[in-house]
Amino acid sequence: MRLNAYLARAGVASRRRSDELIRTGRVRVNGEPGELNTVVGARDVVEVDGERVSAQPLVYVLLHKPAGVVTTASDPHGRPTVVGLVEHEARVVPVGRLDADTTGALLLTNDGALAHRLAHPRYGVPKVYEAEVEGTPAAAALATLREGIALEDGRTAPAEARLLAPGLVELVLHEGRKHQVKRMLEAVGHPVRRLHRSRYAGLDLDGLEPGTWRELTREEVTALRRESGLA
Ligand code: URA
Repeated sequence: MRLNAYLARAGVASRRRSDELIRTGRVRVNGEPGELNTVVGARDVVEVDGERVSAQPLVYVLLHKPAGVVTTASDPHGRPTVVGLVEHEARVVPVGRLDADTTGALLLTNDGALAHRLAHPRYGVPKVYEAEVEGTPAAAALATLREGIALEDGRTAPAEARLLAPGLVELVLHEGRKHQVKRMLEAVGHPVRRLHRSRYAGLDLDGLEPGTWRELTREEVTALRRESGLA
């Protein structure tokens, strides 16, 4: 793998910051200065400022995100973060984003390649949302949600939409734009009061209380890789 990916996997820094470390000559590989295009494997000795570092195994975590927690690694306003909730020795980062007030399924990983694929609309992994809304959408509003809505950043892709109960809508999206569910429901005249993601790429929250997390099973990881075309 490339040296910057190795350093990120080792928990040294993000890839971009690792590039800076490499450029400024602080990284050595087998005793030689590392280059931006250096490729390293398990047998190579990588040092940063003279200290040996080694890549961590790939880790995949499913978090039941509670409300009031931000989807970043660190927050300048000091709010609790999803990364703070997942006390894993590996440096995992969230795949995509849930708003601070949104609850539900959030994947975190240090597998950059898989994270990139899962977040990319081309692979269209399904995300299932339950939205408590103002009023109860009529059949016509649900049809509009399914067909696509012109938002300021373009038309939404076809989605699934159904009423679970009065004032409770289930939406299945295959894309993930900022505030997308809230903007779609607002556009059909039913602002969201509460939003929960019940499933992400086939993973549900069975047995996970808000604020708790678990590692994915090997079968779940294989399924994710297959779904995103990496298997
Ligand atoms: N859509 C939203 O509006 N918010 C989220 O957190 C996720 C999807």
